Amino acid sequence: MEQVVKGTVNIAAAVQGTLLALTGTLLLILLHRIFTAKNWRNQSAVPGPGWWLGLGPIMSYSRFLWMGIGSACNYYNEKYGSIARVWINGEDTFILSKSSAVYHVLKSNNYTGRFASKKGLQCIGMFEQGIIFNSNIELWKKVRTYFTKALTGPGLQKSVDVCVSATNKQLFLRIPLNEKDLLIKIHRYFSTWQAVLIQPDVFFRLNFVYKKYHLAAKELQDEMGKLVEQKRQAINNMEKLDETDFATELIFAQNHDELSADDVRQCVLEMVIAAPDTLSISLFFMLLLLKQNSVVEEQIVQEIQSQIGERDVESADLQNLNVLERFIKESLRFHPVVDFIMRRALEDDYIDGYRVAKGTNLILNIGRMHKSEFFQKPNEFNLENFENTVSTGTIRHVRSNKTIQTWI
Ligand code: HEM
Repeated sequence: MEQVVKGTVNIAAAVQGTLLALTGTLLLILLHRIFTAKNWRNQSAVPGPGWWLGLGPIMSYSRFLWMGIGSACNYYNEKYGSIARVWINGEDTFILSKSSAVYHVLKSNNYTGRFASKKGLQCIGMFEQGIIFNSNIELWKKVRTYFTKALTGPGLQKSVDVCVSATNKQLFLRIPLNEKDLLIKIHRYFSTWQAVLIQPDVFFRLNFVYKKYHLAAKELQDEMGKLVEQKRQAINNMEKLDETDFATELIFAQNHDELSADDVRQCVLEMVIAAPDTLSISLFFMLLLLKQNSVVEEQIVQEIQSQIGERDVESADLQNLNVLERFIKESLRFHPVVDFIMRRALEDDYIDGYRVAKGTNLILNIGRMHKSEFFQKPNEFNLENFENTVSTGTIRHVRSNKTIQTWI
């Protein structure tokens, strides 16, 4: 018994010692980063928490880790206004919820880079790979051509057709797969993504914490690797390839040494994760909003009947369905599934009169922007909010002057 108690005391002391050492290391790393940060003085004119001998940066970073990125951004925008400056991991970070500032960032090629913890991105395979968080601009531009081809113009219609015909547990890969198993892996990957995105390096040294995230990410990566391999076999076994699709084009690019095997796997993985969660949650909210707003539901049905009659709605009809489009846009505004976008300044610049030094992180707090500017009834679900702004039936993803358009 005495031995058990002693053992327990020893373990408790060891855990306490480890935690103290970790906290100390974390503080030292932060202080080092903060004191070596060149930019904070230049950018201190932007409203935000004070430096307070280095306490300000520690507190703002802690708030992000504690509250999560979205809630922390809302807190700072609420407190300091629609352009606020904080520190994440000792790095200058602007939080923008002012539409002119957000527009400037989205339209400029100066902000195509992303920011996040390097080790966090390495954990989920997104460091200088794939499209979503790829800050290797040359590679990002290269892989982006494959996504653009699949998600714009005639390629988009083809992709939609491929997805519709492949709904029988095949996805856009057109390879049989276990949907349920895949969904669980995607869910775990998402949780990992959220957990590791802005963690300090010391987090990744805690093997007992980090291991489960590493495994969750690897699980989906391995699954994608297998599916790409099956797709490759399927292509090789075809007598004649009548038409290519997104995955086939990537595999061909690898065959011609334009992309590595890891690039191909990560691009396929990101196409798989970019669509289902965003779309299914958005659709869930749309159905909920229809139930809560029966007048809007009636308006949509009437419009479809008058414009289309009894036949099925086709993608090409969307441009004539103004009420439906306003409903989609208002639903995405009112219940957004993504409320912020993370970017990094590639060069020095000015945003709304504030100097932005090269390397500054930017968080575009679009969720808050959509509820505080432009709209007549920002806190209400109301189609009048898009009365004058609806012109086409597309949702745009903007990451540079060019756009990726996605039909919903
Ligand atoms: C309601 C549904 C969706 C929402 C709210 C949404 C939201 C977003 C957001 C906020 C970004 C980051 C944009 C940026 O940094 O500029 C993004 C990027 C992206 N999304 Fe979506 N998305 C949705 C559906 C989809 C679907 C269905 C696909 C594919 C079929 C897709 C593919 C992509 C891709 C490829 C990117 C990376 C674009 C780039 O970095 O150039 N998304 N999405």
